[in-house]
Amino acid sequence: MNLYKYVSDAINDKLGFIANLETPRNRSFGDFSTNAAMVMAKQAGKNPREIAAEILPKLSELNFIESASVAGPGFINIKLKDDFIWHAAAQTHDNVSINKPLTIDMDYGSYNVAKSLHIGHLRTSIVGDTLNRIAKHLGHKTISYNHMGDWGRSMGLVIAWIKRNHPDWPFFQKNFDATADYSNYAMPVEELDTYYPAAAALAKTDEDFMEEARIITAELQRGHPGYNALYNVFLPISLESMMETVKRLNIMPFDKNLGEKNAAQYIEPVEKMLREKNLLVKSDGAEVIVVKKDTDTAPMPPVMFYNSRGAVPYDATDIMALYYRKITDNPDKIIYLTDIRQKLHFEQLFRVAEITGLFPPENLEHIGYGTINGADGKPFKTRDGNAAGLNDIIEMINNAVKKRVSESGKNLPPETIDSIALAALKFNDLMHDLRSDYVFDPDAVTSFEGRTGPYILYTAVRLNSVLKKAGEIKAGPLVTLSDDERNLLIETLDFERTVQSAFDNRATDMIANYAYDLCQLINTFYHNCPILREDIDDKTRGQRLTVTQIARDTLATTIDLMGLKIPEEM
Ligand code: ARG
Repeated sequence: MNLYKYVSDAINDKLGFIANLETPRNRSFGDFSTNAAMVMAKQAGKNPREIAAEILPKLSELNFIESASVAGPGFINIKLKDDFIWHAAAQTHDNVSINKPLTIDMDYGSYNVAKSLHIGHLRTSIVGDTLNRIAKHLGHKTISYNHMGDWGRSMGLVIAWIKRNHPDWPFFQKNFDATADYSNYAMPVEELDTYYPAAAALAKTDEDFMEEARIITAELQRGHPGYNALYNVFLPISLESMMETVKRLNIMPFDKNLGEKNAAQYIEPVEKMLREKNLLVKSDGAEVIVVKKDTDTAPMPPVMFYNSRGAVPYDATDIMALYYRKITDNPDKIIYLTDIRQKLHFEQLFRVAEITGLFPPENLEHIGYGTINGADGKPFKTRDGNAAGLNDIIEMINNAVKKRVSESGKNLPPETIDSIALAALKFNDLMHDLRSDYVFDPDAVTSFEGRTGPYILYTAVRLNSVLKKAGEIKAGPLVTLSDDERNLLIETLDFERTVQSAFDNRATDMIANYAYDLCQLINTFYHNCPILREDIDDKTRGQRLTVTQIARDTLATTIDLMGLKIPEEM
């Protein structure tokens, strides 16, 4: 149940008036408070405390309200009935109903072939996966896309690099036999990953090499048999490594691993559409789409459809991807999650969607996330000064966790260390406002205390262990709720609202912070309300165990939305 909405709807119904509902900071005043009397008094030109006195009896008629009282200049504090909270909290969170389920294409991760994953892919993967889980929890139909960078200039650069180092390989010969098997040319992924950086560095200083890469890109796209055969040798190596990462990060498998190359198959119908609408304009040997509007104040460059070599660049493949998604998924919404630096690219793309009538702009959304920085405020680097690879980061965190665990004298199995490390990494990412930069500190995020993933898991493990030790729960009739129980249960009743707002605001930090607040309340309850101690009578124990179970279920669902795994012990 969304308690906040339930209470606020009932009060507004009763008073025939839309009032603000708040959760008082000091819970001893009440579970909720409203400024209704103050707003009504202002409208009627009366004294708020007088109005409040008129409202109170009406509120008391609501069967879930225990008491209502006036405070300060005219706030009304409301206390809910124990048994109302008790029964509401016992409902599960599974049956959420939204008014209108949407079909949503979610484009995140979107890794690049022949380029190893680095820190820049963390947020798109982690946040994208959580947003996807949240959307599904709310009942939307999502289709997740790993829109791979698999068809652009970087492919040309990689092939040019291999050609330069192995000019004798069959792919580059005139009499190339496209029917033969070339799988024995496969290289280890570690080696493949070195080609692109090396080629990109060379292209910066060697214009001939750059030119060759441009030509190769265009020829690859036009079906050059040798280049395509070589491409098909390294593509599966990259794909496999991407899938390993997906597994390692415990993100859901993508519904579609389809990127630029897949989109480029639709070049004919898309080009036809653009020509029919007279949208392709020649410009220095290239063909572009003009997207500038008279009202623009900021620069809005045209979108390149064919470059001067006749190749289709990134921009163009995204137009074709829109076309592809329209004719296959026909989604109500497409959400793209990339680094904020791609903001302009998506603004341009959305304009093309509008001009061509593929999608109205309000159905397209780009979420641009900030950079992960090191202590120096610059993009996070490894000790050797390189942009940190994803695997380096995972390893760094694993080591930090191992160190902490051994310092505390514990001995935990490797799977548990992995879960803790993953929670440290992911929770830290999710809890930051996704549109801002943040500083990444491998030591701080692995702490077992404070706003960290390990703290969240630790709390869940603790609850699981109490419930396991207790065995079957015999919940007697409710007596009264202690403050700690009441605050905790009310927090569990805020879960649905949190998930909904997190989705509406595309703000995964709301889920992470909710998890933290919930854990704080759980640990206070745990501390103040002993459960298994011998002197606790059966009735009290039964009630506390029920609270524990409700809290555990809510926390476990929250943890699941963040894509973390609860270990057996910690
Ligand atoms: N592969 C791109 C990158 O690594 C991100 C692609 C995002 N999705 C898209 N449809 N453009 O930056």
